[in-house]
Amino acid sequence: MAIIAPSFLASDFLRLGEECKMVNESEAEWFHLDVMDGRFVPNISFGLPVVEQIRKATSKVLDVHLMIVEPEKYTEAFKAAGADRLSVHIEACPHLHRNIQQIKQLGMKAGVAINPHTPVSQLEDIIADIDTVLIMSVNPGFGGQKFIPHTLHKIKQLKQMITAGNHNVLIEIDGGVTSDNAAEIIAAGADVLVAGSNVFKSSDPKKAIADLARI
Ligand code: DX5
Ligand code: ZN
Repeated sequence: MAIIAPSFLASDFLRLGEECKMVNESEAEWFHLDVMDGRFVPNISFGLPVVEQIRKATSKVLDVHLMIVEPEKYTEAFKAAGADRLSVHIEACPHLHRNIQQIKQLGMKAGVAINPHTPVSQLEDIIADIDTVLIMSVNPGFGGQKFIPHTLHKIKQLKQMITAGNHNVLIEIDGGVTSDNAAEIIAAGADVLVAGSNVFKSSDPKKAIADLARI
């Protein structure tokens, strides 16, 4: 059974309180919050004040996915806003090791996110220091895109690396996850499924979460 992390990028921002309530009452364990800066990715989403408000609406895990350059400038602020887990992109961090230490020193779980073209092998010298690898299964920036099938190969490779080194790291898959492809994603080795459109655009979001949780 995978951990389900609904991505609020696809939620109805006019009804954010109700969306939080729905996820609170669902089988989802994490809230996935996508922060975009219009520089690392060609889109702007939401930032600190929204994370802060969502923190007040749930005691579930806040999993913040930073798609921003220079994340070190905001790490403390995201901790203060209530983030439990913080993922930064390897492609945005020339000093990734320092970024990871900073996140952990602040008491958050540290994650590294990798884009579809970034090989899993680039994680070899950081895997022992992190709690999560977030494999992007679409190009970051937008919800509602189609899952890139090559991702399955990357999940298997990463799973092997984690098992071989006996590391305590969760594999999180983000982008285009549906109840149709979730089984093969989990079979490949995923621990956490992020799902945006599949949950929030569904006529029965709680059931969509339950369906994913039962795979
Ligand atoms: C994309 C975000 C994802 C996105 C997933 O940049 O990181 O979390 O919201 O949305 P779906 O599930 O619709 O692909
Ligand atoms: Zn995300």
